[in-house]
Amino acid sequence: MSNDKTEGVTLHLLSPLPYADNALNPVISANTIGIHYSKHHKGYVDNLNKLVAGTEFAGLKLEKIITETAGKSDKIAIFNNAAQTWNHTFYWNSLKPNGGGEPPAALKQKIEASFGTVDACKKELATAAMTQFGSGWAWLVLDGDRLKVVKTSNADVPLTTGMKPLLTIDVWEHAYYLDYQNRRADYLNAVLEKLINWSFAMDNLK
Ligand SMILES: [Fe+2]
Repeated sequence: MSNDKTEGVTLHLLSPLPYADNALNPVISANTIGIHYSKHHKGYVDNLNKLVAGTEFAGLKLEKIITETAGKSDKIAIFNNAAQTWNHTFYWNSLKPNGGGEPPAALKQKIEASFGTVDACKKELATAAMTQFGSGWAWLVLDGDRLKVVKTSNADVPLTTGMKPLLTIDVWEHAYYLDYQNRRADYLNAVLEKLINWSFAMDNLK
């Protein structure tokens, strides 16, 4: 039975993909998106629901679970699955078919104030994503009134350190390995040139 409630507690739901699984072809194949979404992302949501059932975290909002469990070694499984649930929804929205190009004017201005040029910002994102050793994420964030690029390991998310995420790129191997094997740089360049959703980043800036 598919239901969003059990014993009166609201379950976390797998957010719908904002586009068809083949919409990012050929940069990211339908095969990669399909497995990434229906196995990896769904797996985190399912695990989270199992892990929080009957605990103090049942019924709490996802962001609250993330901030409440961050840095607590006895809550690491809940944190990992909650953060990965949030990170993946944020990642799907950070990409769009026919993305890339010029950011909206207000975001572009902010990028230029913080990085000099849009190209410099993209280069910093690519470098952060390339130099993330092992699994993790590269992020464009708002830190105070400036934009910054940061990278995080595994499930970590800048929400827990007071920064506001604007967009992210998944650099876990499951995000690109079927299409690019070990060529992470090729995946990153293609994503930044053709898929990155500057409008989503702009919306998060508001
Ligand atoms: Fe992922």
